[in-house]
Amino acid sequence: MKQRKNSMALPAILGGEPTLAGRFPAWPVAGPREYKNVRTVLKSGQWWRGSGTAVGVFEKRFAKVHGAPYGLAVTNGTHALELALRALKVGPGDEVIVPAMTFAATAMAVLIVGAKPVLADIDGDTWCISVEDVARKMTGRTKAVIPVHFAGQMADLEGLERLCDPRGVAIIEDAAHAHGARRNGYAAGSRGAASAFSFQNFKLMSAGEGGMLLFTDGNLFEASRLIGNCGRPFGDTSYAHLLPGSNFRMGELTAAVLNAQLDRLGTLGKKREINAGNLSNLLKDFEGIKVQSRDKHTGRHAYYMYIFEYDEACFEGLSRDQFVMSLQAEGIPAYRMYPALQDTAFYKTAAQADLRSDEDAPLSRRKAARGVWLHHRVLLGKKQALGQLADAIAKIGKSAGKIASMRQGA
Ligand SMILES: Cc1ncc(COP(=O)(O)O)c(C=O)c1O
Repeated sequence: MKQRKNSMALPAILGGEPTLAGRFPAWPVAGPREYKNVRTVLKSGQWWRGSGTAVGVFEKRFAKVHGAPYGLAVTNGTHALELALRALKVGPGDEVIVPAMTFAATAMAVLIVGAKPVLADIDGDTWCISVEDVARKMTGRTKAVIPVHFAGQMADLEGLERLCDPRGVAIIEDAAHAHGARRNGYAAGSRGAASAFSFQNFKLMSAGEGGMLLFTDGNLFEASRLIGNCGRPFGDTSYAHLLPGSNFRMGELTAAVLNAQLDRLGTLGKKREINAGNLSNLLKDFEGIKVQSRDKHTGRHAYYMYIFEYDEACFEGLSRDQFVMSLQAEGIPAYRMYPALQDTAFYKTAAQADLRSDEDAPLSRRKAARGVWLHHRVLLGKKQALGQLADAIAKIGKSAGKIASMRQGA
């Protein structure tokens, strides 16, 4: 275990001082622009997009920042995925390939439209979907693939396009973690037939809830607008419900907040990248901590999460969950990784009728068991706080055996 300052001090979980209490900025943030924009909408009396302007402005600005020709603001990221699948006419009998390591919504959206999510494993270094495994999982029923730009690093879209384009399989980017991310000179959201973003409370831009779909194809954009507006063309006043849809519209107050959040995206993105580099330098000598690799094609890692694989063998048997609790006790916003989808109750229940025998995804399972993520607000504080974070890990490491036995007896 690396020797660092105060590494002999008592960890907070054993009653010592929390090293980082109050050291990281709060998230989400609201500055004068959020207040001004919200007040403007409140005063206008136009609180829905049918009569207001904030949603339309936000759609255009967000799409432009990501180099996409069309944007449709929606209620949340889960609905964004669902709407994209519906607009692509994905339904019963179809298969959609998703990574086994992702938040449940990526696969749930597929189930909700009646199709089957087929699980592909991830790359063990980048944590993004493995193109080789997608190739293995493709069948004549594959209608779409949903790569997740995991933790904010973009998936290998060129590799997926080589597989998908000749077969007419659509790519839907799940960019819930990847606002402002870039790869090989292009932005997240600019290549897939549709790309889904989330503005949930933890995300890189937030209004508590909210979502965005970006499109490269005008017809798909129009189809999504219709479905997401109860099957009714925008601006219609004659109850012309042309097809069965739902209401996925974003409200004006949400867009007022997000217009202000978008102003900060570039500055905060740069800060996160610099601090992530600093943190990786500090953590590189820790045995038992293997940080997500940076793909050589990554231009901007958006760093929704700072993620690493934790090896309890290097921490005297202190389990991953106990390690996460120890970090939390120090005041660090640390979390255990998502479960692998094949091990979740909903997936087993919903998909067991036709669970494919090749849906084992061992690397996703490994990351689920060993993965730790730090919320991006860790990367928005002072550089000195990152040194203290490394000190806290060293301190926990020094007492790892003691914490493990104390927690077992607890
Ligand atoms: C990878 C991924 N996809 C989709 C979603 C769904 O977004 P929302 O929570 O806005 O519905 C999330 C949200 O956490 C996510 O992390």
